Amino acid sequence: MMLKRDVDLKAAVEAAWAAAAAHRGEGKVASYIPALARVDPMKFGIAVVTRSGEAIVAGDADEAFSIQSISKVFMLALALNRIQAMLWERVGREPSGSAFNSIVQLEVEKGKPRNPLINAGALAVTDAVIGDGSPDEAVAALLDYLRSAGDDGAVLTDDEVATSESEAGARNRSLAYFLSAFGNLRNPVEDVLSAYFRQCATAMSCRQLARAGLHLAFDGRDPVTERAPITPSRSRRINSLMLTCGHYDNSGDFAFRVGLPGKSGVGGGILAIVPGEASVCVWSPGLNAAGTSLAGAIALEALVERTGWTVF
Ligand code: DON
Repeated sequence: MMLKRDVDLKAAVEAAWAAAAAHRGEGKVASYIPALARVDPMKFGIAVVTRSGEAIVAGDADEAFSIQSISKVFMLALALNRIQAMLWERVGREPSGSAFNSIVQLEVEKGKPRNPLINAGALAVTDAVIGDGSPDEAVAALLDYLRSAGDDGAVLTDDEVATSESEAGARNRSLAYFLSAFGNLRNPVEDVLSAYFRQCATAMSCRQLARAGLHLAFDGRDPVTERAPITPSRSRRINSLMLTCGHYDNSGDFAFRVGLPGKSGVGGGILAIVPGEASVCVWSPGLNAAGTSLAGAIALEALVERTGWTVF
């Protein structure tokens, strides 16, 4: 990791906020989940959490938003802890080059999703986390994981968003039934969907999410609490999947522009990991065509420009 000497992180965060400010409101707020369409498109938040746990923030960094697909990163960690490498018999590790909710490859590739971060793969991951337990237990495990960094704020499911997504959930239901038809779900389709919709509907702020992801920057061990929810090799592998698959068919462009493992969500959040240095979360609801926050990605570009942060 090349860190520019004497980086003033506060100034870098301010610069990122300034670079994004003019782009707030650009892109489209996700409307296929009706409850998300009501979010103010002018919102913008950024939080950088460093090894000491210190948070450098700007904008609406303390306002909770819907983390959506960012939840897939933490469910992946839970699934790997539960069934280890057996997960890779059910889900691949290649970028899909397709939209997050695409069904095309699932039929051609016989029910094995390309990776755990597209919706089809995430449904199989959630099924693995449920295991022999219940959807409620899987959601509770996720919330515990997200809270385990000792954040004092509440980490809750937004039931209105979960219900809204379920009501508009024809596409995810189709993916889940396809997986089930190929024998790649162990639990009933509606149980898996119920956990999946709720995990996506988790509400957190940039400050909370950056804090919760900090262990991913330090080989799976939180440098403040010293809790290690995942092994070093799993942490590195999750980062590798975030880099190659975290933004679906926009992953190459994100790697090119930002150069860090990241995961987007259609709520407008992006979690980015700076190995050995920090965890970053940005939030701005306007999305590009691939469902990545438009102003959020611009802010991250400005941040890495100032800090020299990159994995390359
Ligand atoms: O399943 C869905 O469509 C949403 N709950 C999550 C999609 C998402 O966040 C895609 N990411 N950018």
